[in-house]
Amino acid sequence: MKNHLVLVENQVRPGVALLRLNRPKELNALNLELMAELRDALQALDQDPTVRVMVLTGNDKAFAAGADIHQMSDKSAIDMLRIDQFSTWEQIRRLKKPLIAAVSGFVLGGGHELVMHCDMVIASESTRIGQPEIMLGIMPGAGGTQRLTRQIGKIAAMEMVLTGKPIGAGRAYELGLVNKVVPVEIYLEEALKLAAEIAEKAPLAVRLAKEAVLKAQDFGLSEGLEFERKNFYLLFATQDQKEGMDAFVNKRPPSFQGQ
Ligand code: CAA
Repeated sequence: MKNHLVLVENQVRPGVALLRLNRPKELNALNLELMAELRDALQALDQDPTVRVMVLTGNDKAFAAGADIHQMSDKSAIDMLRIDQFSTWEQIRRLKKPLIAAVSGFVLGGGHELVMHCDMVIASESTRIGQPEIMLGIMPGAGGTQRLTRQIGKIAAMEMVLTGKPIGAGRAYELGLVNKVVPVEIYLEEALKLAAEIAEKAPLAVRLAKEAVLKAQDFGLSEGLEFERKNFYLLFATQDQKEGMDAFVNKRPPSFQGQ
């Protein structure tokens, strides 16, 4: 990659690509350049047929301490509107393949909002998750009031957004913000293991299932159920459906080709 604000390694496990945020001195603060590089890398991997699942990580001390405050501090409202930084994030939200976050240390502000763009989260025991924007005289701007509230409910979201105080990994697990909490030595390994497990599944089924789960955040129940049913029927057009069911009937492991 040209600027190396995001390091990319493909096939760290079969079908799994790893992306690492790489501004360690700034605690991986998410400046515009890093986010553009991240978006470009993710979109390229999303199109790469050798990749089935992507894992996004930072380092043990910080996944990311938020959007870059130095880059925003002197901006006017109109500058912010013109820069339109969150359209980049919107493109990340539209990725088709699963994106798993492997987090540790500071996961703050935009850092946590980026994690909420991911589909699953493995956290180290030292993870601190927070929406501290209120301390800066602003508020979350990339899903920290909307996705967070849908995920953990109004009462807990209000506490995080209005106090700005971070929560530990155990509390994040209780609230359903992370799938699993493990010692810092193994959080990345655990995320890669989870990614490898999903990479073995039928890719088209994974893609349509991800799409349907995400719709549950936007749609009412009847619309969501209709959407789900159409994706379910669509999968009967795939060879992988024939393969998966034939393998079950003949008591053998399936081999999915993504067709
Ligand atoms: N933006 C820019 N730089 C940041 C940063 C951020 N969000 N967070 C940390 N840094 C930089 C610091 O400026 C510092 O750089 P220098 O050494 O050049 O001064 C370096 O990273 C290390 O940071 P600290 O010295 O502060 O480290 P610490 O261990 O004492 O404290 C911390 C760590 C508690 C995370 C503290 O850095 C902090 O509070 N950071 C800001 C967190 C924050 O408010 N995030 C929300 C940003 S706004 C946002 O994200 C909006 C949105 O919704 C998208």
